[in-house]
Amino acid sequence: MKKVYIRTFGCQMNKRDSEVLAGALERRGAELVDDWESADVVLFNTCAVRKHAEDRVFSILGLIAKKAQARGEDKVFGLLGCMAQEWRDKAFKKAPYLDIVCGPNDLYALVENLDEIIARGKKALFVDGKARVDEFYSDGAYFSEDREHSFVIIMEGCNNFCSYCIVPYVRGRERSRPSGDIISEIKLLIDKGISKITLLGQNVNSYSSDLSFLELLKAVSDIKGVKELSFVTAHPKDASVELFRLMAERENIKKYLHLPFQAGSNRILKLMNRNYAIEHYKELVMAYRDIVKGGYLSTDVIVGFPTETDEDFQATFDVMKELKFETAYIFKYSPRPFSKASKMKDNVPKEVKERRHKILLEFQRSIAER
Ligand code: SAH
Ligand code: SF4
Ligand code: F3S
Repeated sequence: MKKVYIRTFGCQMNKRDSEVLAGALERRGAELVDDWESADVVLFNTCAVRKHAEDRVFSILGLIAKKAQARGEDKVFGLLGCMAQEWRDKAFKKAPYLDIVCGPNDLYALVENLDEIIARGKKALFVDGKARVDEFYSDGAYFSEDREHSFVIIMEGCNNFCSYCIVPYVRGRERSRPSGDIISEIKLLIDKGISKITLLGQNVNSYSSDLSFLELLKAVSDIKGVKELSFVTAHPKDASVELFRLMAERENIKKYLHLPFQAGSNRILKLMNRNYAIEHYKELVMAYRDIVKGGYLSTDVIVGFPTETDEDFQATFDVMKELKFETAYIFKYSPRPFSKASKMKDNVPKEVKERRHKILLEFQRSIAER
């Protein structure tokens, strides 16, 4: 029986992908292990959203591969997820110890071919998005690391093309799973003792299949055994008063909203291709605060986007001061391949990015303390 070690980086989508992958491999007789040393197959499910995350992956994987080689151990190494899709066959050049490179939409192909890859001992590249993603999610769905809570992917990909972001290029266009598959998955998890569910998608509220997002949310909230229901990530363009009303009405929907605003200056928002003005964002938040009593609000912010001036940054600071998020994830802009913004000059100096990052972090900490 082969032993498989999976390590996950990046967002909750990746975390859930890794669980489903683990489930599907386990179903085929693999044993999952917690340490790479005892594994025959070492898989890293990776994130490409910022360069820093990528550098870490290559450095950790490289170190492990070197150690294994020094000990004369013959392990199979796989780079999976968003970095795999970004690097494609170039990953084999960059990291010659790799045996497998597999993008996020091809994980089922990996599951179905792993034994053959090991037997053949050749390099395997899966990046054409041809695997049956719906079948994949059903196959390993029963697997959840947490006993109480599970993520459930309802849609994948992104059509928004925010100018700084690599996600649409590595995850592909938006695709929603049929509601029947999602509901079966949730029922399966409930049978296993799960009572808290988080619906996942890069733009969870642009879900659209046989049901709309609001209809799906209602249907899941109606499932017996769902004690707590939440969803991430919402995009301001698809958030609505109707959504907030439903959150307020349904007892088992968590009063939690993650609504990234990214920047406070309309000039920067436009360059980011976010498709809303900050005034609209503020109206949404005021409606949320008003309708969802005791609601928890979190956000994402980027500092140091190309051409960001002190005034632009001040506008971001002012939004944080005005709206008082319960949590804010603050990132320094990192130019990413394929993205439109990477063609602009990354002209905010590192020290300025760091200073702005620190100012927002400290401000957010002071709010959280209060
Ligand atoms: N689909 C989600 C999450 C995308 S990635 C959404 O649209 O909200 C999570 C966060 O990483 C983004 O909200 C953004 O704040 C940040 N991010 C994305 N690309 C980045 C980049 N190139 N540099 C710095 N931060 C980035
Ligand atoms: Fe990236 Fe924007 Fe899509 Fe979010 S909405 S994944 S930030 S392109
Ligand atoms: Fe990262 Fe891919 Fe998620 S780039 S943030 S792991 S969609």
